[in-house]
Amino acid sequence: MSAGPDFVLRPWEMSDLPLIREASLDPYIPLITTIPAPYSEAAAEAFVRRQWERAATGAGYPFAIVRSRDRRPVGAIGLWLRELPEGRGSLGYWLTDLARGQGVARAALRTVTGWALRDLGVPRLQLYIEPWNTASARIAEDIGFRREGLLRGWQQVGDERRDMAVYALLNGDGPADGRAVTAH
Ligand SMILES: CC(C)(COP(=O)(O)OP(=O)(O)OC[C@H]1O[C@@H](n2cnc3c(N)ncnc32)[C@H](O)[C@@H]1OP(=O)(O)O)[C@@H](O)C(=O)NCCC(=O)NCCS
Repeated sequence: MSAGPDFVLRPWEMSDLPLIREASLDPYIPLITTIPAPYSEAAAEAFVRRQWERAATGAGYPFAIVRSRDRRPVGAIGLWLRELPEGRGSLGYWLTDLARGQGVARAALRTVTGWALRDLGVPRLQLYIEPWNTASARIAEDIGFRREGLLRGWQQVGDERRDMAVYALLNGDGPADGRAVTAH
C-alpha cells in the first residue's frame, strides 16, 4: 500500500532491525509500543516475530513505513483488531526523526484508515493520543477522527499513569476536510 508519493507500507522484515534500534533510542516510542529499550538483537528479532504473529492470528496488521527511493524503513503503523468482535479497531504510528515533518504519518494513517473502513468494514476506529501530542492530534483530525473525550489515567506510559484523549472515526462519518477518507 502506498503512503503518499514517496513512501510505502509493507509487512515487517528481519532486515528492519536498524529501524528498531533507532526507535529504541527515541525518548517516547518505546513507552507506547513494545519496541525494546535498551535495544538488543534478540529482543528486536522477537519484536519482528511478534508482528508476524499478530498478522497471522488476525490480532492486527502491523506495517513498516518505507521510503520508496532507497527502501529505507522510517517508521511504523499498525491496525489493531483485538476488539473487532465488538466492532472496534485501533491504530498506532510512529516515525524516526528522519521522516518527521513531511506528512508521512498523515499519508500512512489515511491509507490504513481507508483500508480498514472500506475493505475490512471495521465499524469504528479509535486512536489514543496524549493531550500534549499536538502533531498526532492534528494528523488525526485532518483525516476526520473526532476527539470524543479524555480518558483519565488510561494507560501506563513509562512509570506513570497518563491521560489519553480518545479520537474516533465511524464508518459512515463524513470527511473532515472535504476529502473522503475512503477515496484513493
Ligand atoms: C506523531 C508523529 C508520527 C507525527 O509525525 P509527523 O508526520 O512528522 O508530524 P508533523 O511534524 O508533520 O506534524 C503534523 C502536523 O501537526 C502540526 N504540528 C506539529 N506540532 C505542532 C505544535 N506544537 N503546534 C501546532 N501544530 C503542530 C504540524 O505543523 C503538522 O501540520 P501541517 O502538516 O499541516 O503543517 C511523530 O511525531 C512521532 O513519531 N512521534 C513519536 C511517536 C508518537 O507520538 N506517535 C503517536 C502516538 S498517538
